[in-house]
Amino acid sequence: MGLRIHPSILAADFANFEREIARIPTADAVHVDVMDNHFVPNLTFGLPMVQRLQEVSALPLDVHLMIEDADRWAPDYAETGAFSVTFHAEAAADPVALARRLRAIGSRASLALKPATGVEPYLELLPEFDQVLVMTVEPGFGGQGFLEWTMPKLRRLREAVRASGLDVWLQVDGGIDERTIGIAAESGANVFVAGSSVYGREDPVEAIAALRAAAEPHAHAPAS
Ligand code: DX5
Ligand code: ZN
Repeated sequence: MGLRIHPSILAADFANFEREIARIPTADAVHVDVMDNHFVPNLTFGLPMVQRLQEVSALPLDVHLMIEDADRWAPDYAETGAFSVTFHAEAAADPVALARRLRAIGSRASLALKPATGVEPYLELLPEFDQVLVMTVEPGFGGQGFLEWTMPKLRRLREAVRASGLDVWLQVDGGIDERTIGIAAESGANVFVAGSSVYGREDPVEAIAALRAAAEPHAHAPAS
């Protein structure tokens, strides 16, 4: 698959999500950040909002759950019809069982790792997942600086995905802009979340095109 750009509505106007999603028709999906004020020190919205976004969005929803007790809550988000549901490894008691439930409901199953979480224990679980999200900032807030020291983890994942022959997407989230997207692409990412660098610009469509153009020369040959 080619590179995918998923703008984050965390950086959009919270009073006008329907209109804000309509401003990014060239995006591949909408990234939806659910925060519970426990797993992260910030609060956004929950299930009723995601259900409603699903109804009004022409784009698939890429739901990123920054919540505790993912085992209990993540399946409800898959039930909304979300294209992809990401839960954090640090917040799930049984990641494999949860991934299987998400897939059975019909969503892509995605595992997120905070910057300091090591990747090695999860490499053997790759067949259970459709995507791994390497956080490139501490989760909780938009507009933070890209943590380049997370890149070795991404390289390790790209190597493992390639060796496995599986079609597991590698997503990065946090501090992605026209400069850092090249670094992440070169390190093996193929799905890019971008909040401020899309919604913080006057023309989000132009911003998406600029991100694609900046990533493409650095992209690895896709693993599948
Ligand atoms: C951070 C969120 C991100 C956030 C990224 O916890 O998971 O999705 O929206 O925002 P930027 O692109 O501004 O760093
Ligand atoms: Zn996110």
